[in-house]
Amino acid sequence: MELDRERVIAWLKEEVSAERLAHIFGVEAMSRELALVHGADPELAAQAGLLHDLAKFFPKERLLKLARQAGLTLDPILEATPHLIHADVSALVAQQEFGVKNPKILGAIRHHTLGEPGMGKLSRVVFVADALEPNRGDSPDLTALRQTARVNLDRAVRQTCDRTLSYLLKHQKTIHPRLVETRNWALQRERKETDTL
Ligand SMILES: [Fe+2]
Ligand SMILES: [Fe+2]
Repeated sequence: MELDRERVIAWLKEEVSAERLAHIFGVEAMSRELALVHGADPELAAQAGLLHDLAKFFPKERLLKLARQAGLTLDPILEATPHLIHADVSALVAQQEFGVKNPKILGAIRHHTLGEPGMGKLSRVVFVADALEPNRGDSPDLTALRQTARVNLDRAVRQTCDRTLSYLLKHQKTIHPRLVETRNWALQRERKETDTL
């Protein structure tokens, strides 16, 4: 089934802020662009980008209720920090509201916040695009990371994790272990790639 982009945008206008919508369009465009560079399907990447934050503004009770209804396993950190499950719930909304069935799109939506060891190329593209789209700013490290993302996707995933982890440490925020696992996985892939050069 074709995704009706205009219907998604109309839905988003009701459910997210104008600022968030700009971010979503940024992720959509950057996912398409990075997919082209890295040999993933640009149309699927753009769709995942458009849909990745559907549940961003759902209140935590709604996130928890939808996750439980769908039978998602919630560990204590997710229970305590329900905002983290907006990624899983966005994938549910994509399925239920917009009929999205493609497992690569659904996976990329689900993985956009914490990643997952072993995640496929489309997921890696959207994970990185979420952190690097133009509305995230133009600091020197972001500008450098945007260049890295075009040449070495695994390094960009690892550095994106590192940036998020530094932020979480600095602000005394809870760190979900899956982000650390994603980081270590990407680091191993990055090293393997460098070793074979
Ligand atoms: Fe998000
Ligand atoms: Fe996002």
